[in-house]
Amino acid sequence: MIRIIARENGPLLVEVDGQVQYALCRCGHSEKKPFCSGAHKAVGFKAPEAIIEVAK
Ligand code: FES
Repeated sequence: MIRIIARENGPLLVEVDGQVQYALCRCGHSEKKPFCSGAHKAVGFKAPEAIIEVAK
C-alpha cells in the first residue's frame, strides 16, 4: 500500500507498505528541498493532518 501522510504542522510522508520512504517539505522553508529539513518547526508552520491512500 502506498499512502501520502500530511503530518499535522509538518511534512508529507511517502509511506510504502508501512515504511516511510520520504519526508517531503510542504512549508517551503527546507534547506534540502524537496525533502523536509525540520525547518517547519522553527517557522511555526501550521497545517492540518491528512492521509491519502494512493495505491494498494
Ligand atoms: S515541512 Fe519540514 S522543512 Fe518544510
